[in-house]
Amino acid sequence: MLHQSQYAAEKSRRDDAAKQKRAPRDDRAGSRVALPQTPWVRLGDKAPDFTQDSTQGPIHLYEWMGDSWAVLFSHPADFTPVCTTELGMVARLKPEFETRNVKVIGLSVDPLFRHDMWAHDIAQTQGVELNFPLLADADRKVAQLYDMIHPNAHATETVRSVFIIDPKKTVRLILTYPAETGRNFDELLRVIDSLQLADDHKVATPANWKPGEDVVILPSVSNTEAAELFPRGYKELKPYLRVTPQPNFEPPGQEASRA
Ligand code: BEZ
Repeated sequence: MLHQSQYAAEKSRRDDAAKQKRAPRDDRAGSRVALPQTPWVRLGDKAPDFTQDSTQGPIHLYEWMGDSWAVLFSHPADFTPVCTTELGMVARLKPEFETRNVKVIGLSVDPLFRHDMWAHDIAQTQGVELNFPLLADADRKVAQLYDMIHPNAHATETVRSVFIIDPKKTVRLILTYPAETGRNFDELLRVIDSLQLADDHKVATPANWKPGEDVVILPSVSNTEAAELFPRGYKELKPYLRVTPQPNFEPPGQEASRA
């Protein structure tokens, strides 16, 4: 485990560099880390592909994803309290992601040996093994590709970015959280449910929707098509606002009552 004083020294080294508005020396590489400008990644873009070291060996994103969805998320640094709880939560929720054909992959700009040491702390404090890969992006290759370093928030550490990538490798969600706030990973599952419903059933999900609640029919679907697609019917509140029960959802007990 990294001793508190070692962590404090590392943190102070980074903060000093940040104050001087320059990237700190990367002691492993023996050279200053450059942060060149890269084009933004936006919704609908092809997710930038990469190969990078991880706690589960080198990962080539597209190959690793195969036909799955992916959640790629960054956190500011290893051995930090909020990040520790986040990784524990994602490890606990892994079966929920798997049910939805989603692979999860974390990232910070710390080197692999620190990830490996931190994994012990995560298991010890969160009661769950780190059961998904954590990219060791010490050269900031992936962080730059995905614009995960916001220099006015912190010169060198990644912010809490999230990218949901679909099996066609299209970016479907981008979220950016500050270092101070741990993410709500149930919300990511909710978004994945919504995106998968939209792809499969030509519907969208209203504000604060939860699985099982009514959905709305995409404006591109005509009323004639809607009548075929949604045999349980729909309510037309306005020509552009048509509400229908969630297509792939049977309310509990309904099947039994029909039998
Ligand atoms: C954390 O993960 O606990 C954290 C990281 C950077 C700043 C504040 C909190």
